[in-house]
Amino acid sequence: MKKKVLGFVLSAAMIGAMLTGCGGASTSSTATSTATTSKAASTATTSAASTATASKSASASGKTVGVAMPTKDLQRWNQDGTNMKAELEAAGYTVDLQYASNDINQQVSQIENMVSEPVDCLVVASIDGSSLSTPLSDAKAKGIPIIAYDRLLTDTDAVDYYATFDNEEVGRIQGKYIVDQLKLADAKAGTTYNIELFTGDPGDNNAQLFWKGAITDTLQQYIDSGVLVVKSGQKDFASCATAEWKTETAQARMDDLISSYYADGTKIDAVMCSNDSTALGVENSLAQNYNGGNQPIITGQDCDKPNVKNMIAGKQSMSVFKDTRELAKETVKMVGQILSGSTVDTTEGGAYNNGKIDVPTYLCTPVFADASNYKQLLIDSGYYTEADLA
Ligand code: BGC
Repeated sequence: MKKKVLGFVLSAAMIGAMLTGCGGASTSSTATSTATTSKAASTATTSAASTATASKSASASGKTVGVAMPTKDLQRWNQDGTNMKAELEAAGYTVDLQYASNDINQQVSQIENMVSEPVDCLVVASIDGSSLSTPLSDAKAKGIPIIAYDRLLTDTDAVDYYATFDNEEVGRIQGKYIVDQLKLADAKAGTTYNIELFTGDPGDNNAQLFWKGAITDTLQQYIDSGVLVVKSGQKDFASCATAEWKTETAQARMDDLISSYYADGTKIDAVMCSNDSTALGVENSLAQNYNGGNQPIITGQDCDKPNVKNMIAGKQSMSVFKDTRELAKETVKMVGQILSGSTVDTTEGGAYNNGKIDVPTYLCTPVFADASNYKQLLIDSGYYTEADLA
């Protein structure tokens, strides 16, 4: 599996301009070309989205969009698939939505089938971004446009656009939270805090980006200076990776860490988890095995239901909310713009290099979430009901 961080060309000014939701568009569209500041960009983008969706309905008729999703095992991909299908159908497309049970070969054959149908456009959330070059090249040869969804498709020139969240920013939000909570910037000489690190699947390019934001850009300096101590010594990406982002795998690793390094009641101050499925495993393990007398700071991402419940119960400190409804809406708008031959909205300076080409990208903004703002973010916005979190 690939273990390289793929370059991301993003201007700092653009990051600053994105405050909430999907924004910061756009390099190219006439509809959004005047929207350069955060609020204006969001507003302009939203109205452009509705216009695009509404006006694409006629041209969508008779067209099929293939949507390849990685797995139903994790909550977010179920939401993404459901949102994409609903948005695409509302715009008038027929949808071929497939889940691949985190099995790369299954995803390859699902995409092969979509190519031979053929679909009119492919939207792919990959299991392993570098493993789909053959079916994607076949799609390209047939003139089928390809959008990488959430996860970058790597080592191929057969990808036209990428729609995602600012993934390095997700990591920075997590890392900065730990810095702030432990007041690391003001730590007195000799003060140390124990931390352990959990990230995701090495084949998912996003995992590398989250790691870069949280560790390389933010926490590494405190590990290097000795303020943060990783007692297990497991502090490189490969040692902290979690195959398929599985809760059970993270839980088993945390069980091992506790029994090997913390069984005598040594305190764990923080566990940096790149997402909620790994955080949940860590929380389960702590509940069963940890006797350090505190609940460590634990980070996450996605605002999965069990994790929001754990935030409310004080077992998880924070998460990062990525509104999958917004990502679906922007991706469907992209499909419409591509298939109607219009200029496609992308984020200025936001192209990702995938090892072969710079892929024009539309970036949505991740938002910090914790027990103090989840109601506003998740309930008031209709993402969840109160009952979902009861
Ligand atoms: C997504 C995260 C998700 C993880 C596991 C990543 O590619 O960006 O939101 O938690 O996959 O599904």
